Amino acid sequence: MLGVCYYPEHWPESQWELDAKRMVELGISFVRVGEFAWSRLEKRRGEFSFEWLDRAVDVLHAAGLKVVMGTPTATPPKWLMDEFPEIAPYDADGKVRGFGSRRHYSFSSDVWWKESARIVEIVAKRYGEHPGIVGWQTDNEYGCHDTTVSWGKEDLKAFRRWLRLRYQTTDQLNEAWAGVFWSMEFNSFDEVELPTLTVTEPNPAQRLDFWRFSSDQVAAYDKMQVEIIRKHAPGSWVTHNFMGFVSDFDHFKVGDNLDLASWDSYPIGFVEKFPFTEEERNRWAETSHPDIAPFHHDLYRGVGKGRFWVMEQQPGPVNWAPWNPVPKPGMVRLWTWEALAHGAEVVSYFRWRQAPFAQEQMHAGLNLPGLDEWSVGGLEAMQVAKELAALGPLPQGEKASVALVHDYASYWASMIQPQGKDFRYEELAFRWYESLRRLGLDVDFVRPGADLSGYKLVVVPCLMQVDEAALTVLKNTDAVVLYGPRSGSRDRHFRIPENLPPGPLAPLTGTRQTQVASLRPGIRDTVSGLVSGAAIRWREYLQTTAEVLGKFENGDPALTGNDRHHYLACWPDEALLSSTLTLLANKAGLQTLDVPSHIRIRRRGKFTFAFNYGSEDWTIPVSGDFVLGDQVLKPQDVAVWK
Ligand code: GAL
Repeated sequence: MLGVCYYPEHWPESQWELDAKRMVELGISFVRVGEFAWSRLEKRRGEFSFEWLDRAVDVLHAAGLKVVMGTPTATPPKWLMDEFPEIAPYDADGKVRGFGSRRHYSFSSDVWWKESARIVEIVAKRYGEHPGIVGWQTDNEYGCHDTTVSWGKEDLKAFRRWLRLRYQTTDQLNEAWAGVFWSMEFNSFDEVELPTLTVTEPNPAQRLDFWRFSSDQVAAYDKMQVEIIRKHAPGSWVTHNFMGFVSDFDHFKVGDNLDLASWDSYPIGFVEKFPFTEEERNRWAETSHPDIAPFHHDLYRGVGKGRFWVMEQQPGPVNWAPWNPVPKPGMVRLWTWEALAHGAEVVSYFRWRQAPFAQEQMHAGLNLPGLDEWSVGGLEAMQVAKELAALGPLPQGEKASVALVHDYASYWASMIQPQGKDFRYEELAFRWYESLRRLGLDVDFVRPGADLSGYKLVVVPCLMQVDEAALTVLKNTDAVVLYGPRSGSRDRHFRIPENLPPGPLAPLTGTRQTQVASLRPGIRDTVSGLVSGAAIRWREYLQTTAEVLGKFENGDPALTGNDRHHYLACWPDEALLSSTLTLLANKAGLQTLDVPSHIRIRRRGKFTFAFNYGSEDWTIPVSGDFVLGDQVLKPQDVAVWK
């Protein structure tokens, strides 16, 4: 169940056999190669040299390792960029983001599509039937380095094309975007510009469409690669390695192209990327916050329709965050076990050996730079391999009892009109997830409209636009449902629904919203009743025919509920969130725990796992049949019991 990312092109050929031997010695089964190798595969147009990669794959295969081949499109070489400068992406200020690192392409460049299809076909043809290759990875981390959206001429051309297909006439476009406002009506699709470099706020419906368009471009580009790979590699699976906290495109749509999802887990790097408080950043600096990696494991298991890998696992300090601490001893092992507990099929470390050169020379590997000597992470990976071997195959995971409806478009919409500076969808979804896990609950991520049967509790942190499909499953579910702030507050074209928010959810929840207030940091509105805590950041004014389960200070409804559907009219602080979720979990018949803030638990089939992210022991309050660790869970340790 372990893998590693390997770059044979970085090391002398004389080293490859020993590397392969030591991979096997460590307990590794899968090796990903190739994803940045374009300049070594095609030095100049048509001048190919695949023999080195043939030999590298053969060496790995001969050692009994299974290879995952990456397509090299994240790094178009210089000769190609010089030949077609229109491949390059543009930032929102209209400046080119040129050659010199990676991901320097726009998803909308026609010539880039042709060039991508060409190289993918050549690689897929050459390796599609190779017995050592079991799977494929398309490109590398779509959207990483802020590369989903591009603002150049090629993008404008493709956006206009997309709009024409969607709206057919400018009358329909003008109607959809409410172009009458500020005289923004168009007589031709060629008059439409990209929503940037305007004097003040551009039209929100246009921005939402541009975001949808940019997201569709990623999914379509990926599909193009996947189809070529499937044609030439019929026996292999295809994945893409998603990044953490990239929400500019709808990952579920890319997931539709794939056999399984994978993602790149850098738990400590993400502590700096996520808007944690400084206090939290310091507390979790050397371990990561206990929900950062699990949030993504559960998300990508959903994106992969039940199947996911960690394609890149942080093996020690990384190089790219503002600060890059050394993980506490035991963390590489803990993260690996945690991914497995959440259902990962394979955990693959990035990278085999620390590179003593170029951009990532400060990034750890399983080996120290330039030597055949294990790093701390390498030794911990080896320990997991031994533990796994002793344990035998892990059982299949089951459906969780809680579903979290996760919606990328709500992130876009809330970024377009935040209304309060700190209303950030990703953060809201993360905090709801964190709170559920503090109650000891396992969570599945589902997209809006996905089947909800079998779930006891469904939480919808924020679903701004509720379409027909989403409404139908929500209407029909037997689960207890909780909707969060701003749900149902916009229609497809970014309008406030005629019946007022929560729009289509009004009949289900018996609520109607007349005003919203965003609250500056420090301002709180206390909530009391069956739940208690406070509203922070955001508070809505509701009228309701449902039962009022919690009230704001002035007596207005804060939490409403009828038989199954509940509406929370604010951004809840930790106490309000926890008491609300406890109330509803219990209503749904779920037993909740009060897990300490540094502990998390998770079930996989007959096994329960516990993880200690803190600095104090935790005595596990159940007596189980321990297969790993024991009743007293030490800091940075893992326990597994039946
Ligand atoms: C990932 C990327 C890898 C490597 C790694 C370093 O985002 O896919 O190629 O750059 O980060 O942490």
